[in-house]
Amino acid sequence: MSSLDIEDVHLWYGQFHALRGVSLSIGQGDFLALLGPSGCGKTSLLRSVAGFVHPQKGSIRVGGQDVVRLKPRERNLGMVFQHYALFPHMSAAENVAFGLKCRNVEKAEAEERVARALDMVGLSHLADRKPRQLSGGQQQRVALARALVIEPNVLLLDEPLGALDKKLRVQMQSELKQLQRKLGVTAVFVTHDQEEAMAMADEILIMRDGVIEQIGRPKEIFTAPRTSWAAEFVGSGNVLKGRLGPAADGARPIDLGPGCAFALAEWANLPADGEATAFVQAEAVKLAPANGSGQGLEVVSQRYLGVYVEVQAQYRDGVLRALVSPEEAEAFGVGSRVTATAAPTCVRPMEG
Ligand SMILES: Nc1ncnc2c1ncn2[C@@H]1O[C@H](COP(=O)(O)OP(=O)(O)OP(=O)(O)O)[C@@H](O)[C@H]1O
Ligand SMILES: [Mg+2]
Repeated sequence: MSSLDIEDVHLWYGQFHALRGVSLSIGQGDFLALLGPSGCGKTSLLRSVAGFVHPQKGSIRVGGQDVVRLKPRERNLGMVFQHYALFPHMSAAENVAFGLKCRNVEKAEAEERVARALDMVGLSHLADRKPRQLSGGQQQRVALARALVIEPNVLLLDEPLGALDKKLRVQMQSELKQLQRKLGVTAVFVTHDQEEAMAMADEILIMRDGVIEQIGRPKEIFTAPRTSWAAEFVGSGNVLKGRLGPAADGARPIDLGPGCAFALAEWANLPADGEATAFVQAEAVKLAPANGSGQGLEVVSQRYLGVYVEVQAQYRDGVLRALVSPEEAEAFGVGSRVTATAAPTCVRPMEG
């Protein structure tokens, strides 16, 4: 059964059309990451689900129930924001208890549930501290406990780790993911960080100007973006535009000029003739030294990325990016000449 169903949701702020027909379904216990540039409507979508803003058109169902006319509290959703938004005058335990109080949960039961929620996020020993006496990561755990204690149908997280430094952020990513999985709670998670989305999500949704550009498994998003825009946004590879040649050995070559030998194993949706657009991940691009001076592509830069080196080589239409190991990179110094290819199954057709 799906846990959250959004159908053709439109939201206007005055004249501004912020959500322009968003539809999606999330299965029970799934973790969806929402990615997209600033201002594309991520928070608006979350706030629509939570009931803080009211889409003028479309339907939103939680666990099969239409929630559009329900107040935020009646929707039984947990929310965590980027800036903890804890009540400063309340202790950690009081913050966590707040949602239960609003729901008139009986005192003894509330105390037990608060204790359990704080234990879940590893903060039992700090229950009496005020937010200002807690570190950023601890405050974020309180916010998470506060969202989870009401046993929400869906957990909505709006850049919950945005204020944390890199190390704590990575630690919280895995804690949050483990907890989400253990509780089996459905989660929608907004982030600006593609690695974070990759690391945590079952599905990734890319949003652009109030519409869904692409939704899919992380691997699909990163290896086969649907459009050039999605590919540029994800930034994990190369958009190739060129004329397709006739099929040979089960693949159709795409003409990118001298030094490039790329072909597509899949071309069913591409025109029989003419220009095509394809995508290839930087990891999938294989370089080799070119024979003879002036042949192939010129390497124009190298960038160390830790485990990999990104080699950029000039081809007819632009710069081709390849990720190679530091050992391999030695053969492809700036100014050297290379040829480039990839397995045809890694060169994916795109809509353009
Ligand atoms: N209350 C409001 N009134 C008018 N316009 C608004 C309102 N809230 C948001 N907007 C506009 O709607 C668009 C979407 O905003 P939203 O906050 O959903 O973006 P976002 O994707 O969450 O961006 P960010 O990544 O910066 O948080 C933006 O252009 C924003 O200026
Ligand atoms: Mg936002």
